[in-house]
Amino acid sequence: MSFQAPKGVSEYVPPRSALLLAVRDAFAESARRAAYGYVEPAVFEDTQLFVRGVGESTDVVSKEMYTFDDRGGRSITLRPEFTAGVLRGVLEHGLHRGQLPVKVWTAGPVFRYENPQSGRFRQFYQFDLEALGTEDPVVDAETIAVGWDAYAALGLTQVRLLLNSLGDKECRPVYRAALQDFLRGLDLDDETRQRIEINPLRVLDDRRPEVKAQLEHAPVMTDYLCPACAAHHDRVRELLKDLGIPWTDAPRLVRGLDYYNRTTYEFDHPLLGAQSGIGGGGRYDGLSEDIGGPPLPSIGFASGLDRIVLAMEAEGIAARESSGTQVFGVPLGEAARRTMLTLVTSLRRAGVVADMVFGDRGMKGAMKAADRSGAKYAVLIGDREEARQYVLIKDLGTGEQVEMPGADAVAWLKERVTAR
Ligand code: HAM
Repeated sequence: MSFQAPKGVSEYVPPRSALLLAVRDAFAESARRAAYGYVEPAVFEDTQLFVRGVGESTDVVSKEMYTFDDRGGRSITLRPEFTAGVLRGVLEHGLHRGQLPVKVWTAGPVFRYENPQSGRFRQFYQFDLEALGTEDPVVDAETIAVGWDAYAALGLTQVRLLLNSLGDKECRPVYRAALQDFLRGLDLDDETRQRIEINPLRVLDDRRPEVKAQLEHAPVMTDYLCPACAAHHDRVRELLKDLGIPWTDAPRLVRGLDYYNRTTYEFDHPLLGAQSGIGGGGRYDGLSEDIGGPPLPSIGFASGLDRIVLAMEAEGIAARESSGTQVFGVPLGEAARRTMLTLVTSLRRAGVVADMVFGDRGMKGAMKAADRSGAKYAVLIGDREEARQYVLIKDLGTGEQVEMPGADAVAWLKERVTAR
């Protein structure tokens, strides 16, 4: 019997894994340029953090968490998202007592027990960015810009930004009541009727055509915003205009997690079908208090790295910087193998991506390996070269060959593979 990865785990191996790294690096670079610092939060947390933070009535908490008792009898949950844990860490380490906002990012695997399908996994990868401790709408726009610029840096041209406001403690209850009134008058099944009482906004997210058709005239939050929330929302839109970031107002945009208020947004990719959300976030001004902290109005977003890889493939984009081999060493014989390891190590120390053949492969097999590696040059050392301390360099594209002293090879190759 052989083993397979558990269902729904998204795994990467070369060469596709290079795309995942490129995606993560593009987001990290965009965050770094905006002065966000790196955090490495816990992979598992006290279950109650997510119950209180993300919300008991959400699908994520009620149906999708990987929860277990550890050997000490504590209820532990593998993180289904980053925000609650990042905030917990910021509070625990006292970062909120320093300069505000605290601006941090992280990336790594998150876990949700969902029904696996294309673009939907049980273990998947998020990039996550949070700005904690300010209500300033400028930071709302900043987080959006960091995401937007990362998608652009990857060469994606079809990303759409959907923007909404969910109001606050003042205006949302008024809207919620109006929405409930409207929904109670519709022809819906029992489960959905129950949802009207617990989490009516989620009903707006229903994808079934018979439900969708009835929702056409549902009241929308943006018509109920109090003056402060309306001003905040207008400001964010002005700032996006300043930044040249196009968006679509999406008054029915509902996020799957309960902590949001005011600005919410999603990045969406039209070529991805049902799982088109490639990022999403918003304000969570009350979350800190919900988990026992001081008031700390905050905003952030997370992007699904797996879906961005799929979006890049759909747009026909390859990783811009291939991490591929540039020089491939072909030693023939025991003595040559020893010399070759020294040579490829010197190349690597000089910044060249170099690989070599291992074991006794013979000339034909070794040259085949060199061709397969995708390298531009092969370096050959046989008995003759070894005796004279020479190497033979072959351009694998044109077939041209040159001979030179081994001592000159590193500089010669470095110039040719890095200059472009
Ligand atoms: P989220 O919308 O639940 O937000 O997830 C963010 C992104 O993760 C989605 O847009 C999607 O790209 C990706 N994603 C979600 N579920 C899956 C899945 N099963 N398989 C593959 N990709 C998936 C959050 O997680 C919030 N913590 C974002 C945030 C940060 N809000 C404020 N700060």
